[in-house]
Amino acid sequence: MTFNIAYLPGDGVGPEVARAARQVTEAVALKFGISLNFEQHDFGGVAIDNHNDPFPNETRDACKAADAVLLGAVGGPQWDGALKRPEQGLLALRKELGLFANLRPIKIFKGHEEKSPLKAERAAGVDLLIVRELTGGIYFGDRVEGNETARDECSYSRAEVERVARIAFEAARGRSGRVTSVDKANVLATSRLWRNAVVGLRDAEFSDIELDHELVDAMAMKLIQAPSRFDVVLTENMFGDILSDEASVIAASIGLAPSASIGAGAAGLYEPIHGSAPDIAGEDKANPVGAILSAAMMFRISFGAPSAAEAIEAAVQNVLAAGHGTADIGGTDGCVAFAERIAKAVA
Ligand code: IPM
Ligand code: MG
Repeated sequence: MTFNIAYLPGDGVGPEVARAARQVTEAVALKFGISLNFEQHDFGGVAIDNHNDPFPNETRDACKAADAVLLGAVGGPQWDGALKRPEQGLLALRKELGLFANLRPIKIFKGHEEKSPLKAERAAGVDLLIVRELTGGIYFGDRVEGNETARDECSYSRAEVERVARIAFEAARGRSGRVTSVDKANVLATSRLWRNAVVGLRDAEFSDIELDHELVDAMAMKLIQAPSRFDVVLTENMFGDILSDEASVIAASIGLAPSASIGAGAAGLYEPIHGSAPDIAGEDKANPVGAILSAAMMFRISFGAPSAAEAIEAAVQNVLAAGHGTADIGGTDGCVAFAERIAKAVA
């Protein structure tokens, strides 16, 4: 059997990190006898330039038909005035594939404690899984755009909360058995529904899981004070966007953080959590590890090939432990050379 990958390099550093992830993906596929077929499509700003649409029909059909979507990054200042922004393509992709749960593991690599902006003893032992709701909330509510007033509506249904909470609880069973749910229940109606639905599901189906709650402002603080206290962190779309950037730098660099977006049966979407970084695009400076570890998640989740995933993760760890890396983690490699080392370590 052959797995079909819709390959969307996108914009900025996207093509550089996507190429790196593809190279490592091909190396591990060869090693494990897994047959892959990559099909490249325009997406984001490059698709606006070529098709006047960040998510053209041809790309949409290919993503729907694929077993997995491997994405670099989208966006850049040159599309700021565009009728449809590149980011709208990304939101449409997540929505149309029904990818309601975004998994963002954040782990400090051994020996990287000193590279964290936190004191090394605080960064030590950080191993989080942020489960971010991805197709609801303020990202997808009614929007009124105006010069004098504007409005972004946030709404959630109980069913939307329960389905992503279920993913978090199931993930917690394979980890520490603890989930921290983050909301703003002291102010927002959607957050009170969120908390109520999360508690209800835990009581009904996951009584083995230890559940606690944090308000999002306090959580932003506690992630800095004591990040290793947390394990699975469950939260809604916008809070998850913000907290995952914050958490990623605790583990040294956002360039290291991968993500998987999953839903009910549809193809998974695999992308680093960093953006298109236009300031360093085309300069061979981007850290490819976030994209490469996203590919590892693709093997584990979409292809049911945990050994291939582990081989990639071990290769990344070994290359990092040998002191190699891009400038964001204090190394001297470019993106290409760094990816080359990881691909060699896999083979
Ligand atoms: C992310 C990004 C996106 C988001 C942007 C590019 C739309 O920040 O994946 O975290 O806000 O979800
Ligand atoms: Mg973000």
